[in-house]
Amino acid sequence: MKNKKIPIIISIVLFVGAVGFQIADNSLHLLQSPGAKIENYQKSDYGLNSNYVDSLKPFPDLKKGERSPFDLYKYAGKSNSSFLSPDLPMSWNEWVRFHEDQKPKLMADIKNYMSSRHNFSNEAIPGAFMSGGRKAIMMGPISKLPSGVNSYEELANLSPEEIKKRGLFPYTPLAHPLHSTAHMVFPDQWLYAHPEHRRIDVDHDIPDQYLPEFPPPMFLTTHKEYGDITNGREVTLGNYFEMFNGLLSPEQLEGLKELLKPTPTTFFNHTTHRVTLEPSAGVSCFSCHTNGHTNGAFELAPDTRPHLARLRVGTPSMRGNYNLMQLASKRSIRSMDHFAEVEEYFEGDPGIQQAIGPRSQQRSVTNRMGDFNAILDFPPAPKLGPLDKLIPTLATEQELQGEKLFHGKAQCATCHSGPAFVDDYLHDLKVERFYKGRPEGPIKTFPLRGIKDSPPYLHDGRLMTLHDAVEFFNLILELKLNREEKDDLVAYMLCL
Ligand code: HEC
Ligand code: HEC
Repeated sequence: MKNKKIPIIISIVLFVGAVGFQIADNSLHLLQSPGAKIENYQKSDYGLNSNYVDSLKPFPDLKKGERSPFDLYKYAGKSNSSFLSPDLPMSWNEWVRFHEDQKPKLMADIKNYMSSRHNFSNEAIPGAFMSGGRKAIMMGPISKLPSGVNSYEELANLSPEEIKKRGLFPYTPLAHPLHSTAHMVFPDQWLYAHPEHRRIDVDHDIPDQYLPEFPPPMFLTTHKEYGDITNGREVTLGNYFEMFNGLLSPEQLEGLKELLKPTPTTFFNHTTHRVTLEPSAGVSCFSCHTNGHTNGAFELAPDTRPHLARLRVGTPSMRGNYNLMQLASKRSIRSMDHFAEVEEYFEGDPGIQQAIGPRSQQRSVTNRMGDFNAILDFPPAPKLGPLDKLIPTLATEQELQGEKLFHGKAQCATCHSGPAFVDDYLHDLKVERFYKGRPEGPIKTFPLRGIKDSPPYLHDGRLMTLHDAVEFFNLILELKLNREEKDDLVAYMLCL
């Protein structure tokens, strides 16, 4: 009796299960309606012409660590996955050996590539120094002119179409030199003081002379009377308390500590996912934003995929962030507290966090980081009056001329205005009018207050000097400035 009942019960269970499954399956289909579709759809290229995705080379299929093209802007397309993997493509020992082999040749090629783009003459502007008063500001322009063009003026007389057609644009986007792995690359000046951040796979590609001073001075909105509050020192977890106790509020002090506290990131930690030979304690905010400014480290923006389409981004200064409404070149982050909360140590891939280790992201903590960030001031600009205009008795004729151009013929003030010389918008400069390649889309305007202290320029640092920045804007805004007018603009920007 008993034995006969069991199959019947099983059959009933299976039948009910099947019906249940059937119902669930049906409802699944109902929820996933196919959506509307235009019949005979024809895709427009929106006037982008040769920039359209199908006319670009498909991204190469690279494994982590494999060399990537330096001209990645010529590629486009989709990869197999949006997700990063914390795993290495080989064992740790093989990985180290692979990079011991690859790195010397890679670095030699990067050096050649950068020398093919720039003439690193090491010439400084006589008498011009960064805010700390020691580091010379470099003379430009040093971007190399394409062969067949004899002067920047000659180049600027060509139309965007012609420059694009003949491949003459000197300012194409700069890629991460090892884009397949990517992540933070620290400059030599940082590595001398912090050798634990030396990577096994790649080094920085810009000479220290063309990077910000190190360590940079720090100016506080709350203590202008001190000038550089650090007295020439790098603020560290070891000395911040002695330096700032009695000058900051407890919340600011706590926030500063958090900005100095190393935490694991995707590539600086103790897992085999790291890029340093020895296990690393991680990096802190100030490992790149040294003394609340920048040491010239670069990274990839976390905000797009495939990985090879991510834009290289140089570390911006944190100075004067209290006056900015747009943080990060493309992410439109609106507050410093929020930035500290979401800072993309995990490359825009929260899944990676599990494999690496935690970073404190509690609101109360990030609010305090924001509290300290909010008192980091721009450097002094003694020639500017309260309305952010040059004081005529202090400025030279050339600087005044530069100011006039900035607000007039050169149109800089259209986007660089107000106390931080920024409009807090993203602009699409449509630079792809001048080169065949993937467009970069809208990028935030960067403030020009204190700009002499933060070379190289543009989000990816493709312009090494202020002269190059003026040449760039002269070209893309089709301003047709003469040599003298360009020099006037540089002289003016050195006052900001
Ligand atoms: C590579 C080293 C690096 C580290 C470490 C780092 N940053 Fe940044 N930071 C950058 C780069 C690069 C950008 C530009 C990002 C972009 O344009 O999308 C940036 C942008 C910012 C901005 C926006 C600035 C602006 O003008 O748009 C803020 C604020 C900021 N970081 C705060 C922090 C905080 C807080 C931390 C620590 C939690 C931190 N950063 C750690 C490199 C770094
Ligand atoms: C249409 C708006 C617009 C105008 C006009 C404009 N800029 Fe800019 N500026 C920007 C944007 C946007 C960026 C950031 C672009 C990027 O990173 O790709 C920028 C970046 C810069 C930078 C680099 C800042 C940094 O921190 O790296 C300098 C220098 C600069 N502009 C100077 C000028 C000068 C000089 C003029 C006038 C000749 C000018 N700009 C005109 C929008 C503008």
